Amino acid sequence: MNTLELTLEVNGKQRTVTTWPAARLLDVLREDLGLTGTKEGCGEGECGACGVLLDGVLVNSCLVPAIQTQGRSVLTVEGLAADPRYAALLQAFREQGAAQCGSCTPGMLLAAAELLTSGVVPDERAVRQALAGNLCRCTGYTKIIAAVRAAAASLGGADGR
Ligand code: FES
Ligand code: FES
Repeated sequence: MNTLELTLEVNGKQRTVTTWPAARLLDVLREDLGLTGTKEGCGEGECGACGVLLDGVLVNSCLVPAIQTQGRSVLTVEGLAADPRYAALLQAFREQGAAQCGSCTPGMLLAAAELLTSGVVPDERAVRQALAGNLCRCTGYTKIIAAVRAAAASLGGADGR
């Protein structure tokens, strides 16, 4: 059976895995690296549950062929949770009750992280746009949007990380 040897940076650490040539980034993260914080929802690029930052840009990891991540840098929710720059975002999600079942939460957090570091002034419209690719069946979105806005405010605006 053909295999693919892949070296990439995940959450600040160089990782090498041997996987299968058609693997998706999502498969490498969850199955090869055991980073199960990244969720699979639809598997078709529609729900955002599998969102990670690839070289700082939000992607749906279910749509990214692993081979395209050779030598690149990935941030997952595990890396986000360990990074003090995102502590205010996590705290805001807790305080606002923005997570219920939690399936969408990792993708929401990564989408919010991209927004908070983008230089865009995160008013409600910008937050809604940033999260437009992330579906939540539990919260009605209000608390999630409030949490991202609270995090932005506590960070001092658009680029307060
Ligand atoms: S699992 Fe990737 S977008 Fe839904
Ligand atoms: S908290 Fe359940 S899907 Fe969003």
